[in-house]
Parts: sequence; C-alpha cells; structure tokens
Amino acid sequence: MAATILDGKVLAARLRATLATRVAALHFRPGLTVVRVGDDPASGVYVRNKDRAAQEAGFIARTIHLPAATTQAELLGQIAVLNADPAVDGILVQLPLPPQIDAQAAINAVDPAKDVDGFHPINAGRLASGQPGMVPCTPRGVMHLLAESGAPTRGARAVVLGRSQIVGRPMAQLLLTADCTVTIAHSRTADLPAECARADILVAAVGRPELVRADWIKPGAVVLDVGINRLLDGRLAGDVAYAEAAERAGFITPVPGGVGPMTIACLLENTLDAALARRAA
Ligand code: GUN
Repeated sequence: MAATILDGKVLAARLRATLATRVAALHFRPGLTVVRVGDDPASGVYVRNKDRAAQEAGFIARTIHLPAATTQAELLGQIAVLNADPAVDGILVQLPLPPQIDAQAAINAVDPAKDVDGFHPINAGRLASGQPGMVPCTPRGVMHLLAESGAPTRGARAVVLGRSQIVGRPMAQLLLTADCTVTIAHSRTADLPAECARADILVAAVGRPELVRADWIKPGAVVLDVGINRLLDGRLAGDVAYAEAAERAGFITPVPGGVGPMTIACLLENTLDAALARRAA
C-alpha cells in the first residue's frame, strides 16, 4: 500500500500563518538577524528564504552579509553587537563559515537567549537534560511532521540515521522526550539496514542520496527524510529512495517539500519563543 505523504509545504504554511497571527497581536515586532559570511551560493538561497519568510510573518528581519575574508575577531565583534541590541531577539549565523573562522567559536559567542538555531552548548545541554531551551529548527520541524502523522511515539522504536550536532543528536533527544526507544545509527554502525528495519519511526539525516532502500523500512513505518542532496543531473534527492520507500512506509516526507520548509517555519517559531522569553525574563 502506498504511504501517506507528509506535506511539509502545507504544514509549514499553516504554522507560518499561525505565527503571523500571533505576531500581529503583539505590541512589538520580534527581530531576527541572519549573519552570512562569504558567498557560498547555497547559503545565499537559504538566507534569502529565511529573510523572506520572516518578513512575511511580520518579524523585523535583517541579513548582515560580511565579506569572505572576514576574520574571526570581526565576526565575534558583530555577534557581540547583536547580543547587546535589544531589538534583536534571534541571531542566526549561517553555516558553513569560511575556513579561517572557527564555527564553534561563533556558535559559542551567540547569547543563548537569542540562539534561535539552538546550537549553543547551553541549549544543547538543556535539551539533553530535559530543560526548556532553544531547540534546533530541523529536529523541531521533524517533530511537527511526526505529530501530523498521528503515529504514536510512546514506546515506539525510533532510529535516527546520523549523529550531527545540528540534526541527529538533538533529534534523538526530542524523540526520547516523546517516549520513543531511540537508536542513533551512523556510518560506522555494523548493520544499518537491520537497524533501520526495526524502526517504527525512521529519521534519515546522513547526507547520502537515496541510501535508505525500501527493504530497510519496516512496513507501515513513519519515514522522515532530512537529506537534501543535489544529484549530478541537477535533481534534488533525499537520503531515502523515495519512490520505492513510499510503497512500503505508512507515512513519508518528500524531498523537496518535506522537512525543508518546516526548518524555516521553526526558525520563526524559535524567534517568537525567544522574543517572548526575553520579555518575560
Ligand atoms: N546551514 C545549513 N543549515 C543550517 C541551519 O539550520 N542553521 C545554520 N545556522 N546554518 C545552516
């Protein structure tokens, strides 16, 4: 039986509309500043999309574009200015950064209260210890999609394929908080297909096009594909072989139009959360 498609475009549009309504009811406009360093073309597209979505939802969105030769000290100086600016509720330093800059140093420099990426070690630690904090946007978006499926999480076996700081690890924490039995599998896992085949909920976040085949999927499973891989012929492919997987899964996210749009909507959700939390503090 063919899987039900979890449409991230529709869900993200609904979430953005809800956020826009909430923002319109405030007596202030939450501010999001995105810092881009250098000219990575993919980052250019992402940053424009974030900026536009924020404007459309009523946020004050600003992009600061620094030259590729920016030094680490200059970037940290810019972040310090944004940390001190009361009109800025959320700061996002777009990755990747040029090689002369230590990305972790930049992440560590962002005020945790304005860290709408949820990458600061304080926020990672809060998530790992079950305390409220900023949650990385992509895993937060995946949890919205999972909720949309209606599939139960309590006691479900969840497998997260990938162990990155940005997706895999926080994703596993959120699934654990939702009472799943969580396995984190990765490139050194002994038998990836066997691990995946046990999953009621499978999140693929490894950046390997169409790695996950139909026979890796438990019939009826919820398959959430975080991968966005550009193929040699220009097509975009996820980490899951979509056409064959859709014949076996119960629910599946397409690429594009699945997790990607949810990441941006959740960035706005985080920015609104940050703005409200800062004013309540
Ligand atoms: N580059 C690709 N994805 C992301 C993201 O979620 N946040 C940041 N800051 N950079 C990225």
